[in-house]
Amino acid sequence: MTLSTFDLRRARAETRAAAQVVHLNNAGASLMPIAVADALYAYLRREEFEGGYETAAAEQPALESFYTASARLLNAKSSEIAFIENATRAWDMVFYALPLGPGDRILTSHAEYGSNLIAYLQRARQCGVKIDVIPADSDGVLDLDCLQSMIDQHVKLISISHIPTGGGLINPAAEIGQIARQHGIPYLLDACQSIGQLPLDVDAIGCDLLSATGRKYLRGPRGTGLLYVAQPWISRLEPPLLDQHAAELTSPTSYQIRDDARRFENWECFFAGKAALGQAIDYALDWGLPEIADRVGDLANRLRASLRAIDGITITDQGRQQCGIVTFTDQRRSADEIQKAARAAGFNTSVSSGSGMFLDFSRRNISEVVRASVHYFNSEDEIDQFCAFIAATPE
Ligand SMILES: Cc1ncc(COP(=O)(O)O)c(C=O)c1O
Repeated sequence: MTLSTFDLRRARAETRAAAQVVHLNNAGASLMPIAVADALYAYLRREEFEGGYETAAAEQPALESFYTASARLLNAKSSEIAFIENATRAWDMVFYALPLGPGDRILTSHAEYGSNLIAYLQRARQCGVKIDVIPADSDGVLDLDCLQSMIDQHVKLISISHIPTGGGLINPAAEIGQIARQHGIPYLLDACQSIGQLPLDVDAIGCDLLSATGRKYLRGPRGTGLLYVAQPWISRLEPPLLDQHAAELTSPTSYQIRDDARRFENWECFFAGKAALGQAIDYALDWGLPEIADRVGDLANRLRASLRAIDGITITDQGRQQCGIVTFTDQRRSADEIQKAARAAGFNTSVSSGSGMFLDFSRRNISEVVRASVHYFNSEDEIDQFCAFIAATPE
């Protein structure tokens, strides 16, 4: 797809805020489209007027459609999907369920998300697992030959961020999946930044477990996320936390855990958000994920090329295949100063600091970068305006 064939007029008309602000913070939280925002407001209004339990009963079809939409998006089964309040907790629920012991090894990427790294370190401290970081090649991409050579009988998990939080890199998720399958090693994919931005097919990728958020490229509400657990893994993984939605008391001294992925859910949750996330997924599917990926990729390339031409700007994105996250530093100003000045001028961006990308940023001696993340509803004109703003000499 080329830039000219994308129906930008429709995308912007269906996004109320597109007329108000230049939103380049889609990797933080995107803007909800009208259909999603209105579904959320309608659900909340119904709760206000009818009561939360009564609304949940009446809205069962909308709540259930979250599972069917997620399954369609990922090429999974509805029974393999759980609704969880965010990507981190979704990831945690399976990570802490994996039976790991002293001497077991976790292989992870250098561009791993900070919270995941904290969880590895906690399990290393609690039960003696070893964390081994797979080196990056000269383009910053996870090195598949190194991954192959690092595998031995002690490797009990391959756990990778598909797209890191603070850079344009796309890791080769499917190639990693092939290696994981070849050796029968469980594969956990953090798809927080790739869901809604790239087509994701769990079968083609070969991951056993996948965590994701609703608020970023899927354009759902905050406080929503999802977890995919491949069928064979559901019964093998006992959730670290249970309630009476995840399990059922069968006698005063026994319980039975449910046999679908909802064993990882909480009974109480953001019901309105769940229904709205289902809408957001349907909305993304209606645009088509390949079309979204092309459009986002084109806009990000335009942004990178224009920024690169500005004196003092360094693009910090790595990778051979790149996504909608564009990161840079400016010799003249800190990332924080740029983000604040941009906000005042009507451009939403964010700052990625060392905590989210600890290993990668330390390795590259980066403390913080500006993150300008595009989505398909951004216009070429917005990209040009933002670059003109960045090029203007700071006072
Ligand atoms: C790669 C990656 N993983 C996980 C997360 C955490 O997502 P959440 O805030 O929904 O828990 C983020 C958030 O930015 C992320 O970029």
